[in-house]
Amino acid sequence: MNIKIFIVAAMILISQSVFSASSRPHIVILATGGTIAGTAESNTQTTGYKSGAIGVQTLINAVTEINTIARIDGQQISNIGSENMTSDIILKLSQQVNALLASNDVDGVVITHGTDTLDETAYFLNLTVKSDKPVVFTAAMRPATAISADGPMNLLEAVTVAADPNAKGRGVMVVLNDRIGSARFITKTNSTTMDTFKAPEEGYLGIIVGGKPQFENRVEKTHTLRSVFDVRNLKKLPTVVIIYGYQDDPEYMFDAAISHHVDGIVYAGTGAGSVSVRSEAGIKKAEKAGIIVVRASRTGNGIVSSDKELPGLVSNSLNPAKARILLMTALSQNKKPVLIQNYFNTY
Ligand code: SIN
Repeated sequence: MNIKIFIVAAMILISQSVFSASSRPHIVILATGGTIAGTAESNTQTTGYKSGAIGVQTLINAVTEINTIARIDGQQISNIGSENMTSDIILKLSQQVNALLASNDVDGVVITHGTDTLDETAYFLNLTVKSDKPVVFTAAMRPATAISADGPMNLLEAVTVAADPNAKGRGVMVVLNDRIGSARFITKTNSTTMDTFKAPEEGYLGIIVGGKPQFENRVEKTHTLRSVFDVRNLKKLPTVVIIYGYQDDPEYMFDAAISHHVDGIVYAGTGAGSVSVRSEAGIKKAEKAGIIVVRASRTGNGIVSSDKELPGLVSNSLNPAKARILLMTALSQNKKPVLIQNYFNTY
């Protein structure tokens, strides 16, 4: 080949590959641990394995197809089972996501997480990320070493959603098992099955069909860019505990919370947030000590609405775990009960 033709052809090839690399969205994968990064001793073991065992680069290398969808970078935030997730780590995660999305060079973020408390972290980011760029959580129910591990396909679909222009402005999303859920509503509903993430009352935001996201719904609740919560410079989240309601539930659980100087309590009441006489006395004692108490429902579904006969604020449709996340976030900004109740009605 003539040397001039060779040089021109080489320049065209290089410019095409540079162009196609920069035309793909830039997605950063933040890994926190969980079963998606879990390993077991055999490929049939799907319980009793070690979660949070492999690192972010190994997760990325296992799904080379994601590189055809986006320019991928990975960062390790933690590598733990999500039962050990802490408010310090979720605060750091939110701050890192905010920093990444503030850059013109980043188009979206995917977060890998254990399924057990994924809905709590995802809802915290739904309240505190100051961007309309896609933030997508994903996870797995089977460890990476299992036959038919669900992690690789979930990661591929999460990146596909994060890279999709239609995913902007929908709040933080949760992608597993071909479904796209809203962090506000979705929760883990089954301890072992793959179709565990559901929002029984509100349904999904969409579905992934043939490798393409198809969005069907938007959430009405306030999130991300429209949220008033700003934790970008916060050092520590307030302490909020959950006290569970049941027959014979003792008042002394509230005494323990008061003596530990908690900032807030969520009472996971029975039915529509009803309270035993013992816990009612406990709630009144806690409120007297300056602690904000929110009544939620241990049923996990439905609305808990205000009742002038009962003490405490109410969680509206948030389950107790997510009510705890909103109360921590709210208390980091102000301590006025009327304002906090308003947050529970709108977020
Ligand atoms: C965890 O939440 O870290 C363990 C369970 C899982 O990821 O499925």
